[in-house]
Amino acid sequence: MTSPVTPADSSAEQDGAGGQRTLVTLTDIRKSFGDLVANDGVDLTLRSGEVHALLGENGAGKSTLMRILYGLSRPDSGTISVDGRPVQLTSPGVAIAHGIGMVTQHFSLVGPMTVTENVLLTSAGLGLLDLRTGRRMVVEAAERIGVRIDPDARVDRLSVGEQQRVEILKALTHECKVLILDEPTAVLVPQDVEALFRSVRRLTDAGMGVLFISHKLGEVVGISDRVSVLRRGRIVDTVATADASIPQLAELMVGRPTLGVRRADRPNRGDDDLAAARAVSESDLGSYADVETLDVPRDRAILEIREVRLAGRSRDVLDGLDLSVHPGEIVGMAGISGNGQTELVQVLSGLRHPDAGTIEVNQTDITRASPAEVIAAGLGRITEDRYSAVVPDLSVEQNLVLEDLGRFRRGPFLDKQAVRVHATELIERYSVKAAPGDSVGSLSGGNMQKVVLARALARDPMALVVSQPTRGLDVGAAEFVHTQLLARRAAGAGVLLISEDLEELLALADRIVVVYEGRIVGELPVADATPERLGLLMAGETAA
Ligand SMILES: Nc1ncnc2c1ncn2[C@@H]1O[C@H](COP(=O)(O)OP(=O)(O)O)[C@@H](O)[C@H]1O
Ligand SMILES: [Mg+2]
Repeated sequence: MTSPVTPADSSAEQDGAGGQRTLVTLTDIRKSFGDLVANDGVDLTLRSGEVHALLGENGAGKSTLMRILYGLSRPDSGTISVDGRPVQLTSPGVAIAHGIGMVTQHFSLVGPMTVTENVLLTSAGLGLLDLRTGRRMVVEAAERIGVRIDPDARVDRLSVGEQQRVEILKALTHECKVLILDEPTAVLVPQDVEALFRSVRRLTDAGMGVLFISHKLGEVVGISDRVSVLRRGRIVDTVATADASIPQLAELMVGRPTLGVRRADRPNRGDDDLAAARAVSESDLGSYADVETLDVPRDRAILEIREVRLAGRSRDVLDGLDLSVHPGEIVGMAGISGNGQTELVQVLSGLRHPDAGTIEVNQTDITRASPAEVIAAGLGRITEDRYSAVVPDLSVEQNLVLEDLGRFRRGPFLDKQAVRVHATELIERYSVKAAPGDSVGSLSGGNMQKVVLARALARDPMALVVSQPTRGLDVGAAEFVHTQLLARRAAGAGVLLISEDLEELLALADRIVVVYEGRIVGELPVADATPERLGLLMAGETAA
């Protein structure tokens, strides 16, 4: 099939940049889904020996482009050349034959089978090889990326990071010279991210080209040699990473200057950054929210969770969880998803009741309260899944009063005028791009989240439980949400922020607790919280 990359290869295009060959050239790639133009005339090159980052917000068109390069999807027009020759990538098999490998956002491993079996099974043309040869291939490929992996381990017993390595090994056993990694760090703890970066470097040192897809600026700056920024389906710029700054890349990504509150996005993170970040966003609060101080006693916890237990099928999903949140602080909760976060929010929302333990909001016991009683006690919540937090067919104004119907009822009916006035105020205050009568289902993710946020904050909750509040939002909308949370904190509310995004936690929280298997296994003041230390706790290692 493909031979190893050598500079002497006569088919190579020379591009003059340090004598690196151009491995792949994408020219004027277009792809639409109905009216939506996902790729709008994209030009991109990948050279041997480079990590080329493709940076863009959610929905920018990154995966679409990479799926085209891997033969999973056909472009409407445009050309692709590999080693200077035009190719028709009609299927992943054809792409693989041209030396292109891809690790997609969702893995395609067979859980009950071993690493070797997975490699053999899914390797086009390798199906006839025996297990011994397969094992040797796995070990050799693992050496190339500098990791150890047991070829006989069952894949479903491996960690997510290890499973990702298996996907990379699969690509390497096809002798790929181009490796596409689509948002590879989304599923990884920080330690695994570092290991991945080391592996990627070994591959490019050996002459491969890696396309690294991400919407995280800090990562892109950390790993890449060049960055192409994709915005609304177009490449807005391609720059050498060494010449680019984070604010500049952020601006290219969203098309306007950003506040830059995300501390962890800075390459040289220092203790001062957090203070600086806070200063920026707090000075900006005035334009978003009137920070009226809440009347809450400051000397005791506003949210007190004691020894909460909730039984699951085989074990307790909440296993004696203890946590207090004080007025005027944001407590971040880190953890890999599936360690009890979803159940904790359900319990705190009154949707499920714990089997043991107690929960108090401002000294009112809400352990067995209904959702309405929880809200009445002063606990606001912004749940993980905004689509289930709204009724899509109802209008914006109706959704905005759902949790507060009593206040807007006149006899058996809603007071339409009061509802409209309430909505108009909130739409203005939270800059929702919608009219009161629009159905919520027609809004973008960012505007829908603003509706959810407005509804929760309209009642001035003194405690707030917020789960994954910016997942899937673009940078601008995420920044808005962050500013609102900081405003609540400034007003004296206690905020529990549950997030899988460590950058978000590090930027906003005063202290960070880590949840593992339904328990808090560690707590760090944000000044001491590094991704590495948090990562160890998230992986279940107890603090030394
Ligand atoms: N198969 C599809 N059908 C319809 N729309 C799609 C499809 N795939 C992607 N899109 C849309 O194309 C746009 C770009 O998506 P995608 O390439 O996945 O973005 P990114 O990977 O940068 O987040 C989005 O608006 C997305 O909803
Ligand atoms: Mg994508």
